[in-house]
Amino acid sequence: MRQSKRPSASSTISQTASPTVSPPRQNLGVYGMGRFGRFYAELLSRYASVKAFSRNPDSPLPAGVRRVDEAGLCDQPVIILCVAISGMREVLQRLAPGLKPGTLIMDTCSVKSLPAQWMDELLPPEVKILATHPMFGPDSARGGLEGLPMILHPVRLGAPELAQWRLFFEQMGLSVQLMEPELHDRQAAFTQGLTHYLGRVLAELELEPSRIASLGYRKLLEIIEQTCNDSWQLFYDLQQYNPYTREMRDRLAASLSRVKTRLDQHQRA
Ligand SMILES: NC(=O)c1ccc[n+]([C@@H]2O[C@H](COP(=O)([O-])OP(=O)(O)OC[C@H]3O[C@@H](n4cnc5c(N)ncnc54)[C@H](OP(=O)(O)O)[C@@H]3O)[C@@H](O)[C@H]2O)c1
Repeated sequence: MRQSKRPSASSTISQTASPTVSPPRQNLGVYGMGRFGRFYAELLSRYASVKAFSRNPDSPLPAGVRRVDEAGLCDQPVIILCVAISGMREVLQRLAPGLKPGTLIMDTCSVKSLPAQWMDELLPPEVKILATHPMFGPDSARGGLEGLPMILHPVRLGAPELAQWRLFFEQMGLSVQLMEPELHDRQAAFTQGLTHYLGRVLAELELEPSRIASLGYRKLLEIIEQTCNDSWQLFYDLQQYNPYTREMRDRLAASLSRVKTRLDQHQRA
């Protein structure tokens, strides 16, 4: 499906057309066809013209998305990186020499402080940078995009262009919030890091659906469903590259231990 019922989000970026002529669709390049890259490229192709690059030339592309090589990707005015957080530095170093002045690079990493720093450090000064975290994926967006959070942080982007991108994502139905990377990571260590950690822990318990499942139990099974379809690499990266997840894991372990101690003491009394 290439055409959304919503007004074309691209019209907010390219505003040169007369009212009687449809404005040209925004050209976007997506780097990385992993689980999120494929999902996001398909989603964006409803609003823009999308070309995609994967290191694997045989990786399947979503309908409506055209394959390009790395040089072809560098020709796009906007490049969206859907790359494993642990692969970001390598990809930025490889892309940097081929980028044209004025190109906009957006990342989509689920942690923000380090990727924002890396982009600023490794991309040439004449390239624009918008750090983003689409806080949804193939599982959480199954019911639609309406109201799902989209975090933006302009690393190198003027206010007018930032406002246009904000509108672009809002027209997709997303709830856009501007947030400093440090604050994002501090909050995401719990909202996302804890959820994914508990999802993996619950999966280890090999919980089964049950006919007498309470609502609470069904919600626990939903956490597994929403977190464990993602790659292990994404899980490791979320836990390793967010500077606040170690504290989250320590607090969780201490909390489990306090509740167990309290129960043991009660049973001994
Ligand atoms: N999953 C989600 O729901 C979700 C939501 C929001 C944001 N994100 C973010 O999206 C990004 C991708 O996540 P994912 O779920 O798609 O992970 P994934 O399924 O593990 O895919 C990782 C992707 O990164 C590429 N990659 C890894 N190392 C690379 C390297 N050294 N050089 C070039 N490419 C490399 C892979 O390319 P190949 O296919 O060529 O190996 C693949 O496209 C991450 O930054 C993640 O934080 C994910």
